[in-house]
Amino acid sequence: MTETKKLYIKTYGCQMNVYDSERMVEALGGKGYTETKTPEDADMILLNTCHIREKAAEKIYSELGRLKGLKAENPDLKIGVAGCVAQAEGQEIMRRQPAVDLVVGPQSYHRLPQMEDRVQQGKKALDTDFPEEDKFDKLNARPKAKRGPTAFLTVQEGCDKFCAFCVVPYTRGAEVSRSSEQVLTEARDLVERGVREITLLGQNVNAYNGHDKGLAGLIWDLDKVDGLERIRFTTSHPSDMDEALIEAHGTCDKLMPYLHLPVQSGSDRILKAMNRKHTADEYIRLIERIRAARPDLLLSGDFIVGFPGETDQDHADTMNLVREVFYGQAYSFKYSTRPGTPAAEKTEQVDETVKTERLHALQALLTTQQKQAQEAMVGKTVKVLFEKKGRIEGQLIGKSDYLHAVHADAPDEMIGKTVSVKIENSVTNSLSGVLV
Ligand code: 5AD
Ligand code: SF4
Repeated sequence: MTETKKLYIKTYGCQMNVYDSERMVEALGGKGYTETKTPEDADMILLNTCHIREKAAEKIYSELGRLKGLKAENPDLKIGVAGCVAQAEGQEIMRRQPAVDLVVGPQSYHRLPQMEDRVQQGKKALDTDFPEEDKFDKLNARPKAKRGPTAFLTVQEGCDKFCAFCVVPYTRGAEVSRSSEQVLTEARDLVERGVREITLLGQNVNAYNGHDKGLAGLIWDLDKVDGLERIRFTTSHPSDMDEALIEAHGTCDKLMPYLHLPVQSGSDRILKAMNRKHTADEYIRLIERIRAARPDLLLSGDFIVGFPGETDQDHADTMNLVREVFYGQAYSFKYSTRPGTPAAEKTEQVDETVKTERLHALQALLTTQQKQAQEAMVGKTVKVLFEKKGRIEGQLIGKSDYLHAVHADAPDEMIGKTVSVKIENSVTNSLSGVLV
């Protein structure tokens, strides 16, 4: 019998990290670990980290500084760093924070059990390889526990696009797709365990090539899985939106009318400097084609303000693109210099106060659009998949087809069910309504 130990895992960054954290919990489950929500109880603490912007990476070192205190109280506590900071900084993490016992990059999670043995012997463990063996094959021993109605499923990892600002091609490596058989097996398993909605994940998910008909082919195979009700995918690159995928938005009922399609900037000059491989106009024409296939599609995007060399005119072009496209939801960031990326070499950095002004202007516009998109739902009847209890007794919370959070009074048995809700009210970041 293995003794039970407690694992506290804290996840930063993107949805792929959420998925990876689940897989790490499972991998260490085999070593007798169960998850705890309180770091003070833990025998091992893992930070699953994000390196996308400087702030995200710096947060990790301040968190490690705090955790060092816990280790002073409990010398048996093991501290590990996983994710993209682990991949990018490796040994440097242990040098900056000697309390760290283990550093594991995203491609080596299947090796965690052996690494755990090592740290139990009082040694340090570091693995930031890009191994030959298939991580997913080795991670296959999932316990068949029941789970909530929604799940992430990684189908593709890494990126070959090399946008000038981005660390992902370095931290997650080259694009690799999982086979469609492997994905379908995992999807069926999730459905058996109660999942009704699957979000397919990839840094460049629409470049998926594990199916001879690409991501659209995979979506159509998933469409045939009984019990699976909804399919989503994220994140996509505009250059990889092929005809079959656009068409699927109009013809595949399980594919939800929501698309996250980052453009980053509305200025052709900046798009070129970013190495985005398309113009603003090509992006707008693409959106027109997707909306022709699915007119009620709700669009989401990512933006960067203050990329090196960005002028007031470039920023105005971004604002104009946003006005023309209309986003129901979006994320926007100040450009953050990342060591090792081509943009870090550029000398014409934009002043911090200018970045802040541009970000505020852009966010004000995006917030207005988001509010408008939400308010357009009031009076409509939408399908909602209930996920959990709301904060108010008797209320459940779930997501509409358009990924809006929706509250409604409903019995607990409706968790995991997709039901029609008439929307009555729109508040910040959520809708409320009544069952019909
Ligand atoms: N600075 C600011 N934002 C960035 N992103 C990626 N790299 C950077 C960076 N260096 C943003 C992009 C991307 C999202 C995940 O993060 O908008 O789409
Ligand atoms: Fe980064 Fe560009 Fe690849 Fe997205 S497409 S992960 S922004 S390099």
